[in-house]
Amino acid sequence: MKRNCCCEGIGLILRFYIFLIPFTFFFNLPLTCYSETEDVIIESGFSKDEINRGKRFFMGLLPFERNHEACISCHYMVSPDTLNWNPSAIDIARKYAGRDSAAFHRAVMQPSGNLMAASHQNFEISEEDVYYMKVYLDNLAVTGVEPMKPSINRILIFLFLGVLLTWALLDLLIFKKVKIKAIPILIFVAAFGFQLFMLFNESVLLGRSPGYQPDQPIKFSHQVHVTENQIDCMYCHHTVTTSQTANIPSTNLCMNCHIVVREGTRSGRFEIDKIVQAYEEERSVEWIRIHDLPDHVFFSHAQHVGAGKLDCMQCHGDVENMHVVKQVNDLSMGWCLDCHRTTKVDFIENDYYSIFEAFHIDLEAGVRDSIFAVNIGANNCSSCHY
Ligand code: HEC
Ligand code: HEC
Ligand code: HEC
Ligand code: HEC
Ligand code: HEC
Ligand code: HEC
Repeated sequence: MKRNCCCEGIGLILRFYIFLIPFTFFFNLPLTCYSETEDVIIESGFSKDEINRGKRFFMGLLPFERNHEACISCHYMVSPDTLNWNPSAIDIARKYAGRDSAAFHRAVMQPSGNLMAASHQNFEISEEDVYYMKVYLDNLAVTGVEPMKPSINRILIFLFLGVLLTWALLDLLIFKKVKIKAIPILIFVAAFGFQLFMLFNESVLLGRSPGYQPDQPIKFSHQVHVTENQIDCMYCHHTVTTSQTANIPSTNLCMNCHIVVREGTRSGRFEIDKIVQAYEEERSVEWIRIHDLPDHVFFSHAQHVGAGKLDCMQCHGDVENMHVVKQVNDLSMGWCLDCHRTTKVDFIENDYYSIFEAFHIDLEAGVRDSIFAVNIGANNCSSCHY
């Protein structure tokens, strides 16, 4: 009897899946995690055979008697979770897109620095193979790499929960196969609860991004500069004590040092070359902004770092030990208000606060032993909202 109802349940779930298939097509839900890009032949002007041959070589499938690593094992296609210092395939593809096969051949076979000399040791590649690889990369520069779709798992989990709770509901109301009523009820409540939880998480995260850590156009590392080379935050973000915003340094400032330092220990010449190139072409690097409050909120670094004497770390976390900057706080209104309630203001040392006569008198008389940010009006709506 028990076995029978179990089979019924599975049968029902299977039927439900079959029922869902047309919907997945309808919503165009991706069913594979990573699909390779379709080769766009027309745009790059090469035949599919040429492109595929170069691709096979780059991926390490050709030739069979090769005695060096495949290009793809260092020049990655999809950004890994931890920083990979080697140039990515797409970076290389874009850099050489406008140049001929001979220039590419020289770049591969005549290493420009120490790191590359070590990495490209013992390369035996015919001119023909380099040509096809260049064809493949030129095509890649046009098509780009299709990004992974991280949401697919969540969509599947969500659908699966939907199947579970439908089954539980059907059993409760119609089939009544499971003898112990508590089981379908429990399954229904759990599945439904988890779906609500997922929906809630998605909507809370809308517009806010704790943990946001995009790949930047240059692999600039705070750990390398601040911790290993002892450069002060203020050397680069020099407006932080005096202005509302902290500036992002210009290529000119990078060139103060990189006019001399042309090769990094981890990334070789490739990343620093990007700075030099931007500098020579007089264009700025398009850094991707990480922290970003909505327009209706007023926030000033000068107030917090200059007058308030707060440390960058209190809001930005351990930036000096990050290779890639990550937003650690959610920058929500609650986050601002909480800190204002619990952070003392340095009243005695600070001239800025001499305007608050009454507090000074209280402090000296011992009526109050400390003043919090909230006491000087930091949590009034109008302090943060125009
Ligand atoms: C063991 C790792 C490794 C392998 C395998 C490898 N590379 Fe590299 N390659 C590097 C590193 C590291 C750099 C950057 C060094 C630098 O810029 O100083 C680089 C740089 C390059 C550059 C850019 C040169 C420039 O500065 O503009 C090209 C082009 C290149 N590789 C092509 C290839 C091709 C094609 C293959 C496969 C045949 C390949 N690489 C295999 C590690 C590797
Ligand atoms: C050598 C120059 C340099 C130094 C020194 C430096 N930074 Fe940066 N900082 C940058 C650059 C360039 C960016 C933009 C690229 C990035 O996000 O990594 C940046 C970005 C940031 C961001 C993210 C900005 C955004 O988009 O939201 C924060 C926060 C930050 N830095 C904090 C610090 C702190 C804290 C220190 C000291 C511990 C520091 N920086 C030292 C150059 C520097
Ligand atoms: C005060 C000097 C100084 C300034 C300013 C500076 N750097 Fe550097 N940078 C260094 C030094 C020194 C190294 C070498 C570190 C190593 O490889 O050990 C380096 C290394 C690097 C590397 C390679 C890291 C590696 O290990 O491969 C990159 C990329 C880089 N810097 C980008 C930048 C950018 C972008 C800026 C401007 C926002 C900048 N740097 C400003 C001193 C500086
Ligand atoms: C009280 C919290 C707080 C402190 C302390 C703080 N920041 Fe920020 N920082 C923020 C917030 C909030 C933003 C986003 C501002 C916006 O979107 O208008 C931000 C943005 C930035 C940015 C991006 C550019 C900008 O201004 O929007 C940089 C760079 C930065 N901070 C660097 C620093 C450095 C360096 C320090 C220390 C000297 C520091 N911050 C101290 C909260 C703080
Ligand atoms: C790490 C603690 C901390 C966080 C987080 C923080 N603040 Fe503050 N804030 C302070 C302190 C301390 C003061 C008082 C010192 C001062 O006036 O400079 C202050 C003062 C202010 C003031 C000035 C109030 C006045 O009337 O003088 C404003 C506006 C403000 N904060 C906005 C914000 C906003 C917006 C956020 C969130 C995005 C935020 N703060 C997050 C600590 C914090
Ligand atoms: C210390 C600074 C600060 C103070 C004081 C403050 N807010 Fe905000 N407020 C914020 C920040 C930061 C956001 C953006 C938060 C986010 O995107 O989650 C925000 C967002 C909002 C929003 C939009 C909510 C949303 O989801 O987009 C409203 C409405 C709002 N605040 C109302 C108020 C009212 C009313 C007061 C006075 C009782 C107040 N705020 C006081 C910092 C502050």
